[in-house]
Amino acid sequence: MSEISLKIEENVSLKNLTAFRIGGPARYFVKAENLEDIENAFKFADENSLKIFVLGSGSNLLVSDDGFDGLVISPEIKGIEKIEENNDEVKLKIGSGENWDEMVAYTVNEGLWGMENLSYIPGKVGGVPMQNVGAYGTEAKNIVESVFVYDVVEKKTKTFQNEECEFGYRESRFNKREKKRYVILYVIFKLKKTGIPNMKYLDVENYFKEHGVTNPSLKDMREAIVWIRKNKLPDPAKVGNAGSFFKNLILNEQELEELFENVKKNTNEKVVSELIEIRNKLFSPSGIKIPTAFLVDKVCGLKGFQMGGVKIHNTQALVLVNESGKATAEEILSLAGHVMREVYKKTGIKIYPEPELVGFTDEELGKYLTMG
Ligand code: EPU
Repeated sequence: MSEISLKIEENVSLKNLTAFRIGGPARYFVKAENLEDIENAFKFADENSLKIFVLGSGSNLLVSDDGFDGLVISPEIKGIEKIEENNDEVKLKIGSGENWDEMVAYTVNEGLWGMENLSYIPGKVGGVPMQNVGAYGTEAKNIVESVFVYDVVEKKTKTFQNEECEFGYRESRFNKREKKRYVILYVIFKLKKTGIPNMKYLDVENYFKEHGVTNPSLKDMREAIVWIRKNKLPDPAKVGNAGSFFKNLILNEQELEELFENVKKNTNEKVVSELIEIRNKLFSPSGIKIPTAFLVDKVCGLKGFQMGGVKIHNTQALVLVNESGKATAEEILSLAGHVMREVYKKTGIKIYPEPELVGFTDEELGKYLTMG
């Protein structure tokens, strides 16, 4: 089989393949429906000395206005298969190119517990272990049994068990220690036939209190999460955005003390007492989780702030939106840099972007995302 069988397109706009709806063209672009396509795509890149970018769903990235000067591979591996079942559990093998929320809806309909709190997250299945996707008190780590990949270096397939995936906050070996080494082909999920609803997250707890529900069903859980997300987060189908643009923070005691000193100096009593409430609620042995959204919103007053065609979302301050529909990557980075500097000035804390930044030079990133 030669690479001739691949349909490699040239100069393909990436804009509409991203949730931000921003970005220039890919010099080469190819859809890969199976392992053979992926192998051939890498061979083509090798032979032509091209850089490679593997595009997932485009829901968590910002592409440069200059695009990507290499080969973009879009894996579209489909399929859902029940590979094991016993009295308590079901194992499903799902293609990385399947739509994530369709899979969540499917499993909820089948009465399988585990994915429900991750409802309505835009993206494809492959991105779930890649970033250890997390929301509303759960994360991919809790349901991924193993990940089947193509190893670009050894040019063969491999399976990683859950504990080998090195899952962390929005992290795995696939996007951190061995970034770009593996293409995710299939993910095996382990789901339960009976479950306990996870209502520990504040928004979820409040939702059920308001609805007078004490023991929600699996379907109630999905409904709640979908409702919460729809009400808080902008729909990428309507307005371009990549979800949270900044990561949350885990602080140690000393950093927390500095944060309090700065917040006392730069804000008012009300903000300080809200911060105390958050600290008490979110304390964990690994550190104190401080929501970056709180710093951007309550400490810096930036919710709804607009710069050029880009805006900080009105109900979730971590989300930058392509308000004009015509915003550029440069505008996004300019606003992101502004937010990073404001937060640093008022809190002494450095915050960092969450989406993957594609096609930018280090100089460009340094120019916009500087604290100075
Ligand atoms: N808050 C504000 N202002 C805001 C929004 C939030 O002060 O505009 C404060 C409130 O105190 C609130 C707290 O921040 O209680 C937490 O906010 P929220 O529940 O909205 O969650 P988050 O920590 O800002 C994270 C994830 C989201 C995920 C939610 C729910 C990150 C970077 N973001 O946001 O993930 O949906 O929790 O679990 O970890 C994404 O990654 O794209 C994403 C949307």
